[in-house]
Amino acid sequence: MPDIETLLHEKRVFKPSSEFAKRANWSKKTTNEYRKLGAKSPERFWAKMAREYVTWFTPWKQVLRWKPPFARWFVGGKLNVSYNCLDRHLEGENAWRRNKAAILWEGEPGDSRTLTFAELHREVCKFANVLKDLGVKKGDRVALYMPMIPELAIAMLACTRIGAPHSIVFGGFSAEALRDRINDAGARTVVTADGGFRRGKSVLLKAAVDEALTGAPGVENVVVVRRTGDPVAMQSGRDRWWHDVMAEASAKCPPAKLDSEHPLFILYTSGTTGKPKGVLHTTGGYLTHVASTSHAIFDLKEDDTFWCTADIGWVTGHSYVVYGILANGATTVMYEGAPTHPGPDRLWSIVEKYGVTVFYTAPTAIRTFVRLGDEHPKKHDLSSLRLLGTVGEPINPEAWMWYHRVIGGRRCPIVDTWWQTETGGILITPLPAAVNTKPGSATLAFPGIAADVYTEEGVPVRPSDGGFLVLTKPWPGMLRGIWGDPQRYREQYWSKFENIYFAGDGAHRDRQGYFWIMGRIDDVMNISGHRLGTMEVESALVSHEDVAEAAVVGRPDDLTGTAIVAFVTPKGGIRVDGELVGTLRDHVAHQIGAIAKPADIRFTDALPKTRSGKIMRRLLRDIASGRETVGDTTTLEDYSVLARLRESDET
Ligand code: PRX
Repeated sequence: MPDIETLLHEKRVFKPSSEFAKRANWSKKTTNEYRKLGAKSPERFWAKMAREYVTWFTPWKQVLRWKPPFARWFVGGKLNVSYNCLDRHLEGENAWRRNKAAILWEGEPGDSRTLTFAELHREVCKFANVLKDLGVKKGDRVALYMPMIPELAIAMLACTRIGAPHSIVFGGFSAEALRDRINDAGARTVVTADGGFRRGKSVLLKAAVDEALTGAPGVENVVVVRRTGDPVAMQSGRDRWWHDVMAEASAKCPPAKLDSEHPLFILYTSGTTGKPKGVLHTTGGYLTHVASTSHAIFDLKEDDTFWCTADIGWVTGHSYVVYGILANGATTVMYEGAPTHPGPDRLWSIVEKYGVTVFYTAPTAIRTFVRLGDEHPKKHDLSSLRLLGTVGEPINPEAWMWYHRVIGGRRCPIVDTWWQTETGGILITPLPAAVNTKPGSATLAFPGIAADVYTEEGVPVRPSDGGFLVLTKPWPGMLRGIWGDPQRYREQYWSKFENIYFAGDGAHRDRQGYFWIMGRIDDVMNISGHRLGTMEVESALVSHEDVAEAAVVGRPDDLTGTAIVAFVTPKGGIRVDGELVGTLRDHVAHQIGAIAKPADIRFTDALPKTRSGKIMRRLLRDIASGRETVGDTTTLEDYSVLARLRESDET
């Protein structure tokens, strides 16, 4: 392997190949210039990005107005996201893109659809008119609860066209979770489908919407896409079929000229309390961030076929299935179903079928494929691939090496990208032509991004010491707040260190300044690259009538990164057996979604608590992962609890 400098574990360094570097969008020289500019003046750097990657109807007057912790970017500027993702690829020198594929869609059963930029534009304009006809106005929130079908992208872009912020709820979430999110956002319109295909079965989405709406009186209109053909109940006056309303809609809809800080979307994510946070993103800064990072990091070219495997229900899908990619006029692949259905080679068959060139997925998926065996990718011609990416959790160096070898054929650079729902776009990442990579490290901050690792005292750590991952300056894609809760926004992100954004992750930097992300340090678990608060799962458990108290922790898991372990104290007189385990797991799935089902449930007559009554999660984490309890137990109220918990493990 000529691209390896040293074979010593963790010291492996991969240099960009000169062949890749020669054609790269951001050469080493450009990257270094941008890095210098970004360090000297992030505002000048980002203004350059905003001019280069975004078309504005009205230029901004001020790049940044920063009243910590509230930022406004490109103040006074006016733009439209759907215009940037669609219209500008149909006009002037880009007019040839009219018939270029914008979306290559593959359904789980094997059906497929292509939407060119012109076709997507037409559908988006029509659906924007449908929304207007339903009374949706600028600023109104629209909830989208849909499978991975083109109509989801159409609905999002239609919302942006008229300035109605969308709130997408992942189709794997339960009716309960949907209801909370609809109510919190105050959405009056919901777009859904009869169902979506997943592992050969249909997931019934409309039925979940009906259940959710029994407790969401504010919803006036529901639009339903027919996808699976499952029978659905349509409530007259409230529910309409997508195909009916689209049949009558006009395809002319001028894009609204929106303020740079106009709300673009709300996306709910887990925090340390039971209540999900509605992370708010706005227009100009977000688009600048995702469009520029897509071009620089994924090296998007006119002839690329880009595939991000994330569901659009997560932020990765918002930023890098739809907005960042289409803003660049690039072709994006969307796949509806499960990665291993009908066989373990499904993803690789899609790569081959569409000639995917840039592929972006999560470490948990890579670990699954490692386990399934090399024969599955080897059945397919993956030679179209030229760049690979990962996101969502730390990637273990061996999984990185497998990705490099088996999927990338040792020729593709790998970009391990660190970011969050709150950051809007990628912040720490290699630039593929300019940064040597090390398996397991997300490498360096993107130009214009001020990332650091702090000690508890709020000073940068010494090289190689661990600490808190922070961002010391605002950036354009940053969240603007938590929907309806400015106080929580301050407390959650800006209170640990004054005027500094604390991401909730631990990290260290090596002697070259490379970041090594160590994962969450708060009570948030990262399950298969998705965040779940321990409190949310606890609240779900305690809402069951047989449960008195519950504590939830994560333990390391080879496949999903973290597995959920629940310690449950049943109410007096409740029979503890396998049936109760099943009931509680189903209950959690019903309350939140299948992703939150505990892998283990352990019953205990008491939880370890401090004298002030706080559950000592550290001890539970040790027990859950089979470790000896280390560290201080002097504040533990009742020592015998620990011994009893360990015994419960052995039975
Ligand atoms: O812990 C970090 C982890 O995922 C968290 C953000 O989760 P979410 O908001 O759901 O967004 C996931 C996709 C952007 C972070 O706080 N994380 C994300 N990317 C990486 C990562 N951990 C290590 N390496 C990464 N590349």
